[in-house]
Amino acid sequence: MQDGGVRIAFVGKGGAGKSMIAGTLARLLARRGRNVLAVDLDSNPGLQFSLGMGGGMEAGLPPEAVEEHEGSAYGWRLASDLTPAEVVHRFAVAAPDGVRYLSIGKIHEHEHRRPRRSIVAVRGVLRGFEDPGWDVVGDLEAGTSTPFERYHSFADQVLLVVNPSHSSALAARRIRPLVDDLPVSVVANRWNGTPDHDGFPAAVRVPFDPAAAEAERAGLAPLDHCPGSPAITAIDELVEALLVTDTEGKPG
Ligand SMILES: Nc1ncnc2c1ncn2[C@@H]1O[C@H](COP(=O)(O)OP(=O)(O)OP(=O)(O)O)[C@@H](O)[C@H]1O
Ligand SMILES: [Mg+2]
Repeated sequence: MQDGGVRIAFVGKGGAGKSMIAGTLARLLARRGRNVLAVDLDSNPGLQFSLGMGGGMEAGLPPEAVEEHEGSAYGWRLASDLTPAEVVHRFAVAAPDGVRYLSIGKIHEHEHRRPRRSIVAVRGVLRGFEDPGWDVVGDLEAGTSTPFERYHSFADQVLLVVNPSHSSALAARRIRPLVDDLPVSVVANRWNGTPDHDGFPAAVRVPFDPAAAEAERAGLAPLDHCPGSPAITAIDELVEALLVTDTEGKPG
């Protein structure tokens, strides 16, 4: 058992590095002996690659986990005979280092109802899965729409991933007000030594790291491809900082 789980939602512009950092962070938490649920809330899957599961992993919820219910979001809810914890234990799949992985599932052609059903159910699971013995890491779809829809509401803190580009900071300025009902920390990714953007003091800097980019081309998790690289070291320090904050009480 652990003293209380960390519950983190990753947000940021497309390509900012959310999945790379979320997947690595999830595994580094698990390597510290913690129970970790990593959830891909992005309909373009990314987290399975950075976790090191490769492609083609379907970890959406099966039809029996969801039921139609008038008045619920989009007319669906988690099946009433299932608790969020049961869903996690039955349907989350094993990822490296003992992380458990759940996703909103594949969007199949000609199946317009299915993705909505799955998204609604997975979000319900996340919000209801409040076991203090578990850390929960959610990788949101890029941009403002998912924060606007409050996909981060399961979390107790938000990590806003920002790159040293003007467009990334612009996106971050749009996203931040949508998530600042929770404590928000800025992760400056692809850090290259240039000053932080105005208004975005970095809580942590993850350096630009060619080995991390190579990992993707090699189809490997950065943690497997370049475990001692500067980006991984920085994410490990982020994990330490999160756990210190967690034992000292929630920030904010
Ligand atoms: N610090 C870094 N140094 C070098 N390459 C990086 C770094 N962080 C991420 N990358 C690379 O940039 C690409 C985009 O990263 P990632 O997929 O994590 O972004 P994302 O924010 O999840 O994108 P999307 O919005 O498309 O989901 C990947 O190829 C990744 O390996
Ligand atoms: Mg991603």
